Amino acid sequence: MLTELAARARARLDPAHWDFFAGGAGDERTLRANEEAFQRLRLLPRVLRATGPRDLRTTLFGTELSAPLLVAPTAFHRLAHPDGELATARGAAAAGTVLVVSMAATTPVEDIAAAGGPLWFQLYPQPDLEFTAAVVRRAERAGCRALVVTVDSPVFGRRERDRRNGFTDLPAGLVCEHLRDGTGRVRDIVMDADLGWERIDWLRGVTGLPIVLKGLLHPADALLAVEHGVSAVLVSNHGGRQLDGAVATVDALPAVVKAVGGQVPVLLDGGIRCGADILAALALGAGAVLVGRPVLWGLAAAGADGVRQVLDLLREDLDRALALAGARRPADLTGDLVAARC
Ligand code: FNR
Repeated sequence: MLTELAARARARLDPAHWDFFAGGAGDERTLRANEEAFQRLRLLPRVLRATGPRDLRTTLFGTELSAPLLVAPTAFHRLAHPDGELATARGAAAAGTVLVVSMAATTPVEDIAAAGGPLWFQLYPQPDLEFTAAVVRRAERAGCRALVVTVDSPVFGRRERDRRNGFTDLPAGLVCEHLRDGTGRVRDIVMDADLGWERIDWLRGVTGLPIVLKGLLHPADALLAVEHGVSAVLVSNHGGRQLDGAVATVDALPAVVKAVGGQVPVLLDGGIRCGADILAALALGAGAVLVGRPVLWGLAAAGADGVRQVLDLLREDLDRALALAGARRPADLTGDLVAARC
């Protein structure tokens, strides 16, 4: 469904930048597994019961979304399109959903906020606690409504395509805007191998924003996350860009949902490419899903309009899938609608 947009994006992008966006870690087993796991699922639809209007709206932390579909945080949008994150924010706002702004964005969060639309902010906690707290305060002041803390990145995944292409630095003129410190100097982003649960506790003292823990797969970690007071967990393997060989996210989802036991919402990203994928994730217990690469394809192909197109297409496809599966609302979806894996 999104393949034509991906092809248009590819044609427009510098091949090294396409590889940066499309690629994963290692042999890209997990990257492929995310999509394949959805393709292996088969649905068991109900009939004659979903009469009346359908309603996809979903509320998370007090924000109403047009559907249980958000834009995942991804780095360097100005590599994809000159309008960068501003275009992504406009597209997400037009589609009625949240953009999760990346810590590695090439546009400052204050400018992205001015584009309108609800934002969350994704944080890679830095070893410098003062700097980390300052970034969180910046995101709060800009109006971000949740803090998404990425915890699957104690080191960088090994990205073979980037190594092959020699893609190590942003082109002149582009920087990670959230790595600027008080002096205007732009720091290097640090993947902190010393990040532990105590830092999550510390962050809860730094901000009153809901904290979403992004990048867990193991049910024991989901339980710990709840014990440490997070407001949601996000089942993610970073789109196959960190631990190659990690389980596909939709395969990890049921055990996490079981462990969390409804105490906080469970979100999922990785491999969502059509309405049936979203439907399956929701039926298996996700409260909402996020999409990464498809939004980048829309952005590269057609800027804000392209982002909106991708999100509208996925939302409309979910609406159709709901009708065909005999459901009116996301809340109607139950695990029995996922029949089998083939
Ligand atoms: C990402 N992802 C990511 N995650 C994060 O927490 N901070 C980041 O800066 C980035 N950057 C990033 C760049 C690119 C190019 C990609 C493809 C991904 C991971 C992202 O949030 C999400 O987990 C995956 O993209 C979801 O998988 P799909 O939808 O791309 O299959």
